[in-house]
Amino acid sequence: MFSSNDTPASEFKYADDLGVIVNLDDFTHIDFFEKSVGHFPKKMCCRFNPGGVYELSNGIMDNPGDSKYGMTKEQIFEAYQILRDKGVEEFGIHAFLVSNTVTNDYYPTLARTLFELIVELKEKTGISISFVNLSGGVGIAYRPDQTANDIAVIGEGVHKVFDEVLVPAGLGDVAIFTEMGRFMMGPYGGLVTTAIHEKHIYKEYIGVDACAVDLMRPAVYGSYHHVTVLGKENAPADHVYDVTGSLCENCDKFAVDRQLPKIDMGDILFIHDSGAHGYSMGYNYNGKLKSAEVLLKEDGSFQLIRRPETIKDYLSTFDNLGIVDNLL
Ligand SMILES: Cc1ncc(COP(=O)(O)O)c(C=O)c1O
Repeated sequence: MFSSNDTPASEFKYADDLGVIVNLDDFTHIDFFEKSVGHFPKKMCCRFNPGGVYELSNGIMDNPGDSKYGMTKEQIFEAYQILRDKGVEEFGIHAFLVSNTVTNDYYPTLARTLFELIVELKEKTGISISFVNLSGGVGIAYRPDQTANDIAVIGEGVHKVFDEVLVPAGLGDVAIFTEMGRFMMGPYGGLVTTAIHEKHIYKEYIGVDACAVDLMRPAVYGSYHHVTVLGKENAPADHVYDVTGSLCENCDKFAVDRQLPKIDMGDILFIHDSGAHGYSMGYNYNGKLKSAEVLLKEDGSFQLIRRPETIKDYLSTFDNLGIVDNLL
């Protein structure tokens, strides 16, 4: 699946060359795709946005009416008809309405929304959807007091709605796709960093040798990432710290007012759940270089799978004149 938005022509062209299923984010992308690629593939997908506020039984919600993604119901119905007239033979539907849900209800609720829509589409236009992509949004328990999602319960929930809505409508052969990122990756990566400074001003600060370049969720969204001071797992959390990186941004803090054991210089901090929206979201602000990545294997051994960046990497796209080579 190529699920994109605000898509450059070159990306549509590349996706078509690769033969992947293109997920059109917008009604106007039908024309744009045709102009960029010159033809339509046999199989395509469209992204739906129901608008309004999307609420689940436990109150978790998001605001699709305020989100830039997807097509309105009227647009998506028209989009399928236009695509059919242009020769597309097989269709999918996609929606991503709430991010990082920690509830087993999101996927089944979303499934009902999409299943009911495709039944209506079939009745009104005769067009059959062959796959429903429930996308991402199944989240993880970043906080220790949260109850993690149960993927088997989620699967059963979708199955039940499938049997209730699609099977009676004669659509029991629709395939279900997912494109989960965070659920599959998040808990299985950690950011390992060393305490290199302690600062006592109006608050107590611990400065570490990683920064938002390595994990920007706390800086951008104020997200909670659990922190363990290695070797002090059972020590009382009787100190309150802001754990900071070194960017010239006051939001560059991995934890704010966090109860932790006393941290000494050289202590190693393990910042949990950074396997998704971590390294890949990073950037090079302030000339900071991104870290290495190490794979911990099942037998307890380690393997360096990505070396740390060097200043030469950082400057590599800049130097047309050979000046950087002379400097380094
Ligand atoms: C189109 C699309 N699909 C899937 C995902 C993965 O979502 P998640 O990490 O919540 O599973 C994203 C994440 O932003 C996305 O934008």
